[in-house]
Amino acid sequence: MGLAYDWIKIGHLFSVFAWMAGVFYLPRLFVYHADAETRSVQSETFKVMERRLLRGIMRPAMYGTWGFGLWLGLKGGWFSGASWLWLKALLVLALTVYHYQLDAWRKAFEIDANRHSSRFFRMMNELPTLVLFGILVLVVLKPF
Ligand code: HEM
Repeated sequence: MGLAYDWIKIGHLFSVFAWMAGVFYLPRLFVYHADAETRSVQSETFKVMERRLLRGIMRPAMYGTWGFGLWLGLKGGWFSGASWLWLKALLVLALTVYHYQLDAWRKAFEIDANRHSSRFFRMMNELPTLVLFGILVLVVLKPF
């Protein structure tokens, strides 16, 4: 598809990996944070880790994933021909909703208002696994 296309794809995948690292790690931090004593040193440290992970890595990586992904879709003409891309976009939308939900949980932790158990976050941690698997099947196999 050309050199420019390949570099845009490298930008896309770079952003995808950084975003997914956070999408899997942030709810893990919540698992331990939920069991930490409010106002303890551990709890305050988790707050800093969570804020920096979300704002410093996940948020810019999500913007990059969307930006490079839409760019690839337009440049490659995938939107007009390929319905796999529309279904993929739907799954990406689900990941994006999940991202904002993580931010909402993070803000609750920040003001010591979390009401969820560590078990709850353990279960939530499984959701993006399935969505990511679906995205990979679609983008690699392009089944329709
Ligand atoms: C609105 C968001 C997105 C759009 C429009 C989009 C679109 C695209 C397009 C057009 C390609 C190139 C396909 C090709 O050249 O064969 C691509 C590649 C890829 N995308 Fe996305 N993408 C988005 C988000 C994501 C997300 C969230 C993930 C994973 C979590 C992801 C994973 C991948 C992977 C792994 C490839 C490489 C596939 C390959 O080259 O074989 N994308 N994307």
